[in-house]
Amino acid sequence: MEATITTDTTQVIDLHRPDDFHLHLREGALLQAVLPATVKHFARALVMPNLMTPIKTVKDAIAYRNQIQQLLPSDCDFQPLMTLYLTEETDPQLIKQAVSSGVIQAVKLYPKGATTNSSSGVRDIKHVRSVLDEMEAQQLPLCVHGEIVAPEIDVFDRESAFIDQVLLRIRKWNPGLRIVLEHITTQEAVDVVRDQFPFVAATITVHHLILNRSHIFDDGLHPHRFCFPVAKREKHRLKILQAATGGERCFFLGTDSAPHLEKHKLQPCGCAGIYSAPMALPCLAQIFEDHDLLGNLEMFTSEWGAEFYRLPKNPQRCRLIKSAQPVPLPSGPSIGNDRVEVFDPGFPIYWRVD
Ligand code: NCD
Ligand code: ZN
Repeated sequence: MEATITTDTTQVIDLHRPDDFHLHLREGALLQAVLPATVKHFARALVMPNLMTPIKTVKDAIAYRNQIQQLLPSDCDFQPLMTLYLTEETDPQLIKQAVSSGVIQAVKLYPKGATTNSSSGVRDIKHVRSVLDEMEAQQLPLCVHGEIVAPEIDVFDRESAFIDQVLLRIRKWNPGLRIVLEHITTQEAVDVVRDQFPFVAATITVHHLILNRSHIFDDGLHPHRFCFPVAKREKHRLKILQAATGGERCFFLGTDSAPHLEKHKLQPCGCAGIYSAPMALPCLAQIFEDHDLLGNLEMFTSEWGAEFYRLPKNPQRCRLIKSAQPVPLPSGPSIGNDRVEVFDPGFPIYWRVD
């Protein structure tokens, strides 16, 4: 059964249950606090490996997956899909092991210093060539945080510099390697993905469909709108929006929901990351509806990601209901005396997950 959409006053959207192909779940108390929102809305999530101690081995990934699964109610069939953190020390032998474990869906490339917990990341892409070769041979996808961090590169140009200097080099070295350019923010990224698909696809976050760079400074500084890659000019946001809503197989949802405690966000040098999980699907339904493209929502949330990762579509369903009044923004979870702020889209959302 495909998505049913009623456009009368009741307005219900019934979809194959969505997947989140880029998610930060953290660990310990924070994991416990944020996991329920994702489990309520998604059937599967690709869990990022950038913990304080990164997930570098199959054993680490299995232990982390167990930590997540132990927190799930017994009747819950949510599936965490695991990733490994690529370092300059990663042994190519690990790739065969990762594939045969059946637990690892991808390896994640963080350029060193690009974002939260990326100090073990890759300084020079040449140093991981043998791992990339093995991933190509074993058909294990590479997820990339596509930004170059260098003093001479402006923060708003980091993504386009990565495409020119790293992504296209990897494409030459390993033409058969499947790559996901994560959380894209620029016209250049949209263009390169369209051009290089089916070997390159992209995840798009909810917040990058909503925010441009001016919104970060609206009437003052908004730390809860700050993430990497940082939002770009409005013309880029419009390209990302067109890519996400257009039904193209190369673009799919990865929320990059990245919870940080307020005490870490609200600092003279605050952490990058936006916690969007509880609002992701309601915001998407609103955005697709506002553009008269609700018929393409299910492809973005529930089809193209699974297809790229060669996974079956989720048999379970998810229903979104439209209310007559805007749905209030949920308050974020508390952890001890602290809390996590939920992404506020800044416009009324009428949809909620049933
Ligand atoms: C993410 C995090 O906090 O782990 N932060 C972010 O700004 N997106 C890491 C990442 O995906 O860059
Ligand atoms: Zn991320």
